[in-house]
Amino acid sequence: MRNSRIEVQPIAGAVGAEISGVDLSQPLSGDQLADIRRAFGDHGVIFFRDQALSPAQHVAFAENFGPIAINRFFRAVEGWPMIAEVRKEPEQKANIGGGWHTDHSYDAEPALGSVLYAREVPDHGGDTVFASMYAAYDALSDGLKSRLGEMRAVHSSRHVFGQKSGRPAEMKTRILNPELATQDAMHPVVIRHPHNGRPALYVNPGFTLRFEGWTDEESRPLLQYLYAQATKPEFTCRFRWREGSIAFWDNRSTWHLAVNDYHGQRRLMHRITVGGVPLH
Ligand code: SIN
Repeated sequence: MRNSRIEVQPIAGAVGAEISGVDLSQPLSGDQLADIRRAFGDHGVIFFRDQALSPAQHVAFAENFGPIAINRFFRAVEGWPMIAEVRKEPEQKANIGGGWHTDHSYDAEPALGSVLYAREVPDHGGDTVFASMYAAYDALSDGLKSRLGEMRAVHSSRHVFGQKSGRPAEMKTRILNPELATQDAMHPVVIRHPHNGRPALYVNPGFTLRFEGWTDEESRPLLQYLYAQATKPEFTCRFRWREGSIAFWDNRSTWHLAVNDYHGQRRLMHRITVGGVPLH
């Protein structure tokens, strides 16, 4: 690819590509950045291997794509309020992000994406699975697409991060500030991606409560249908982490889920979330 020598290798049919030939600890050239942006747009989530980044270099890489959105609920890395810690200790059972979701959909301006950097990984397990909301949308019937295109949905942080969320007690040291979980936001059920205009399904099991003007009970069957559609294996990819791996995902066109299958081992990731724009 031009002078950047970046190589982009898709890892599944609908979503995900591994990028090689770039050292993210160094400032990126215009060509490198253009190629990374293109791969991000085309594949929804991009992966890098064997990167050695300081917190400052991690922040600098993320800032190439927009301002940092500080997560209000995750414990931050000491001295780095912009970097959220995604940690599970050997004696802990619950993990962070263990259900399908897309980050910050409860915000009025949902995050553009997240840059997750693996600091310490288990010997085996602890993969992350991603799903393409472009593919999920494309596979719907024209009739359902047209109906969904007129609908909006309510998203919330309250039931996940709030006082009444029912989180296990062991999460109290990792998920903070329940009193700040006051965000509800309304977004179209089908968004046009802000950069390429492509339609994507924009509801998710983590944060979507209901369709606008519908009750929770009325919304549930259709949401469940869409969730089953979105997680068909052919719309997903699965990433096996190594120390120094990075995943950079698009929160508008993908969902993700952290597989919780490594009890007894530590997994420590650093996450930076890049701010986004209102969705239409
Ligand atoms: C997250 O949901 O942001 C964390 C994903 C992971 O730890 O793999």
